[in-house]
Amino acid sequence: MLILDYLNLTFLLIQGLIEAVKELLPYVEHMQCARHICQNLQKRFTGAIYHTLFWRASKATTEHAFKVVMKEIETLNPEAHQYLMEKDPKTWSRAFFQTGRCCDAVENEFSKSFNAVIVDARKKPIITMLEEIRLYMMDIVYNMKLKGQQWGNHICPEIRDKVNLLKKAQRHYQVLPSGLNQFEGRGAIDAYEVDLERKTCSCRLWQLNGYGCAHYVASISFLNRDVEAYVDNMFSTTTFRKAYNYRIAPMNSSDMWPETNYTPPLPPINRRTPGRPTTKRKKSTTENIGTHRVSKAGKKIRCNRSQQGHLSTEKAPKVKCEETEETKVCVNQNAGQVKQFKI
Ligand SMILES: *[C@@H]1O[C@H](CO)[C@@H](O)[C@H](O)[C@H]1NC(C)=O
Ligand SMILES: *[C@@H]1O[C@H](CO)[C@@H](O)[C@H](O)[C@H]1NC(C)=O
Repeated sequence: MLILDYLNLTFLLIQGLIEAVKELLPYVEHMQCARHICQNLQKRFTGAIYHTLFWRASKATTEHAFKVVMKEIETLNPEAHQYLMEKDPKTWSRAFFQTGRCCDAVENEFSKSFNAVIVDARKKPIITMLEEIRLYMMDIVYNMKLKGQQWGNHICPEIRDKVNLLKKAQRHYQVLPSGLNQFEGRGAIDAYEVDLERKTCSCRLWQLNGYGCAHYVASISFLNRDVEAYVDNMFSTTTFRKAYNYRIAPMNSSDMWPETNYTPPLPPINRRTPGRPTTKRKKSTTENIGTHRVSKAGKKIRCNRSQQGHLSTEKAPKVKCEETEETKVCVNQNAGQVKQFKI
């Protein structure tokens, strides 16, 4: 499975890349990052409703559910519907993803985290950059290895947490047995066919993510069996340890590296483009850009000097106060207003 992240790439490069990846890896499923499609959709059509509906369409696990949401989008705005259909839903909706992959992700977050990690290393010369990435990887692989050692021989803790959430969600489903291993998971408005023998649920989520859905967890609990025993082997701690069963070799410092006959590479000619060079990934306009402040222009602000409110754009009015024993009388000398305070 491959999810392409378009965010860092220019349009031309994308076109080339899509073709190149198709050519190099003809048998893998090609997908697009749903977040990116959502951002493009929101640039064309304004309204939070598009955001909500799009994610419902993207996360729908069955073609039926997908069609229901798309119908809603069509009624709302036929153009938005057409725009999404042109983007090829097979590449961004779970409803069309192939099963048995143990991955139901529709976004490409991991390339963004990678980018965040290498952002400092990226501005350095090539050898230094590669060295920094190597040291980072050495640390990550070691820490993952260590983590895997501490876990028992069951399933990975993150998946266990997810299964525990499903165990809570299962109470919304009533289980009606049909065969010894076949059930109907019936909710308030929906019902699904669960087959523990074939390891399928007609909502398809189990086949997609490899650890289950509420209906299937309800069926297993109905039989008083251990839910974790049904989790795909992909999520076992043994598989986790196998994935990190290598290490990145330590290196001597560069002055100990063997000498070669090649001429050492010269630094590239420094061509400075105007302005400060950017290092951070360019964020889309629809991305959440940290905290934002609201301008105070036009708002009334309280001011100690004038003892009264005035607009932020105006100068604080000059105020002269006279205090007696009981009251304080202030006169705004600009406007001639009088204000009395009780002491
Ligand atoms: C580090 O230096 C030692 C001694 O010169 C050498 O035997 C070893 O192969 C070097 N290691 C690497 C990874 O180059
Ligand atoms: C304004 O006045 C109040 C009470 O008189 C005082 O607590 C506060 O610190 C003053 N603020 C400024 C910015 O001087």
